[in-house]
Amino acid sequence: TERSLVLVKPDGFARGLTGEVLRRIEAKGYRLAALAVTTPDTDRLHRHYAEHEGKPFFEPLVAFMSSGPVAAVVIEGERCIEGFRALAGATDPTAALPGTIRGDLGRDWGEKVQKNIVHGSDSPESAEREIGIWFPEL
Ligand code: GTP
Ligand code: MG
Repeated sequence: TERSLVLVKPDGFARGLTGEVLRRIEAKGYRLAALAVTTPDTDRLHRHYAEHEGKPFFEPLVAFMSSGPVAAVVIEGERCIEGFRALAGATDPTAALPGTIRGDLGRDWGEKVQKNIVHGSDSPESAEREIGIWFPEL
């Protein structure tokens, strides 16, 4: 069965939305396989966001992601990668549809970093790579 790496990003964690995100994951029927709260260092984030290196939002994104605790979660279930991205909604929380995590709970705060509450792996290859970064013991 498929696994995905979900992060409740610093904005979502600080707003107390971790429980709400986990509730939606469990209500959908996915299992929680690992769960940790940690403030990631920039080395870990450079590895996590390697595909975005060189883009204009890369350094602000890394700075934001290292600014406070996140909840890192491994979820499990058939097609949970695609399924969690559907739960999360579009990257831009203003455009994300109501009913999704970002659409219901996110907005534009007028900052250069796009704060959008959650991360979810985008492919099986990304998921296994990211799980190795956040949970090397798994
Ligand atoms: P993640 O699940 O967080 O990976 O989001 P995503 O897959 O929907 O987006 P993507 O991987 O393309 O980008 C990673 C993160 O970088 C996003 O979640 C945003 O926080 C940020 N980001 C992406 N594109 C932009 C952009 O054009 N401008 C800004 N400011 N931030 C962006
Ligand atoms: Mg992504």
